Amino acid sequence: MKKYTYSLFSILGFAILLTSCGDQNGKASSNGALSSSAAEKVYVAPGEQDEYYAFMSGGYSGNLTVYGLPSGRMFKEIPVFSQFPTSGYGYSEETKPMLETSFGFIPWDDSHHPDISQTNGELDGRWIFLNGNNTPRIARISLSTFETEEIIEIPNSAGNHSSSFITENTEYVVAGTRFSVPVPQRDIPISEYKGNFKGALSFLSVDPEHGHMDIKFQLMMPGFNYDLAHPGRNESHGWFFFTTYNTEEANSLLEVNSSQNDKDFIAAINWKKIEEYVNNGGGKKIPANYAHNVYDESTHTAVTTMKKEVLTVDPSDVPGAVYFLPTPKSPHGVDVDPTGEYIIGNGKLSADLSVHSFSKMIAAIEAEKFDGEAYGIPILKFDDVLGGTVKSGGLGPLHTEFDDQGNAYTTYFISSEVVKWKVGTWEVLDRKPTFYSVGHLMIPGGNSRKPFGKYAVVMNKITKDRYLPTGPELEHSAQLYDISGDKMELLYDFPTHGEPHYAAGIRADLLAENSKKIYRLDDNKHPYAVTSPDQARVERKGKEVHIYMSMIRSHFTPDNIEGVKVGDEVYFHITNHEQDFDVPHGFAMMGQNNSELLIMPGQTKSSVWEPKQVGVFPFYCTDFCSALHQEMQGYIRVSPANSNTELSWSLGD
Ligand code: CUA
Repeated sequence: MKKYTYSLFSILGFAILLTSCGDQNGKASSNGALSSSAAEKVYVAPGEQDEYYAFMSGGYSGNLTVYGLPSGRMFKEIPVFSQFPTSGYGYSEETKPMLETSFGFIPWDDSHHPDISQTNGELDGRWIFLNGNNTPRIARISLSTFETEEIIEIPNSAGNHSSSFITENTEYVVAGTRFSVPVPQRDIPISEYKGNFKGALSFLSVDPEHGHMDIKFQLMMPGFNYDLAHPGRNESHGWFFFTTYNTEEANSLLEVNSSQNDKDFIAAINWKKIEEYVNNGGGKKIPANYAHNVYDESTHTAVTTMKKEVLTVDPSDVPGAVYFLPTPKSPHGVDVDPTGEYIIGNGKLSADLSVHSFSKMIAAIEAEKFDGEAYGIPILKFDDVLGGTVKSGGLGPLHTEFDDQGNAYTTYFISSEVVKWKVGTWEVLDRKPTFYSVGHLMIPGGNSRKPFGKYAVVMNKITKDRYLPTGPELEHSAQLYDISGDKMELLYDFPTHGEPHYAAGIRADLLAENSKKIYRLDDNKHPYAVTSPDQARVERKGKEVHIYMSMIRSHFTPDNIEGVKVGDEVYFHITNHEQDFDVPHGFAMMGQNNSELLIMPGQTKSSVWEPKQVGVFPFYCTDFCSALHQEMQGYIRVSPANSNTELSWSLGD
């Protein structure tokens, strides 16, 4: 009875709130997230689907999460740089190679900036790239299978932060080092940083057919910190822009020592010029050691290749390829507008936004109007390249994205707000608070020639009181704004997983049709696949026992196995014989020092088990697959190491 009274009260309360949120004109107030118009805008009714996909980096989760917009519902977590027991990624024999590096197996990374592949400057929805910040890596994820297909390690790099941004035909994905390091790595005093450390900016070519990445060249820049990057487009296609801080080249107490210079730089890189130089035999190959991990969809297996050299380019060997644009104090983001003319550098310790003009930059370069040089790289004059200044009145600008109407949206970390301004007139049009301390923001297609311009998602660093408390830590808060009108309207808060540094979004119809439904069993080229249950068997090779198993609703073949001994290495190779959409089966073995496997229809996965105790141990399906899911189980008898128990297996007899 008490419960009933409570809910009646809350309905009444909600109704009062609804009424009080409308303003005098009968229009819902613009910041009233409880207003019925805001609620309608984010409500995706049961059975209906979202308009956009949003892919959010997982930060310290090492993964990528998939959301729907406007609902804010999370659809999937795609494991990328981290082991993921939910699917067995990084635990299965087939996917362990994905996490190999020159330092050995690394089951984690810190993922920051996803970027969707493009053709002619528009999102083509084939792949999404993601950087590993800690042990420098770039991953490519298929937007058909939503699986990580490739990870390449970046040598001579450290803190792969200005990454993984792509050029407008996906010719290259870039990886710029945040921390400069000795190249090649060697044992030298840290105090000898200045002049001895290098900042490698790596350009990875992307094969237009299958997407495979290869390091085309590494540009060996001065030992600054390279923070973020964005490609040119249209007229500025062929250039790439990187923000720098710590041009002081300090190696200690950077919060003070790297904020001495009034201006740092945006590095403008003419990659087409360097590509031409390299294609004509330019550059220097140096020894290196880095892992290239490629997953093959037909064998369902990843293979690691260790690469042994990399091509480096000294900027002073390619005159006219690299320039520095002075930019106020320690800029963070660098963002290029959809036309490609404006390059927005956000000095994170300044209030104003400096907007550089690409055409002015080219004019200044052609007139050779330089203001000295740094390590042989010409420095342009700030006033010569300045396209405009946005006097926003905000504090701590970080990142800018764009809509399809010539407007820009900049986040301000310190003043916790997003500011809308007009590209070209630099006039501030609107500002809305964020809750709280916003980092990146994302407009679907915002990093392309054709942004979609309907929603903006801001990614806040602090959540505080936005959700029910969950102990000392809360999931980060994303906020959805409707940006289709003159004024932004805050629609919705939703939690994100890990720390989403950046995100990428795309209209749902551009992906949904191509989303893979099953792996065809006929196409399965896994060496341990069993394509029909009568191929199921168990084989012993010395201490190795290989179990070739199949699974279909609702049994394993075989389900009783004897003759396994303590000290054996037992490999389960399991093929899911389902050919229906959304019918994975799971596999878990009691006492196995590993995670489960989740196996998609038509797919084969393997895991290894080293039985340590004598007895009879069960295995079972972990994914509720039918009314008889609970019957999907089996036993393995483990005999002492010296026993004579014959290897045998069976199903139903
Ligand atoms: Cu198969 Cu549950």
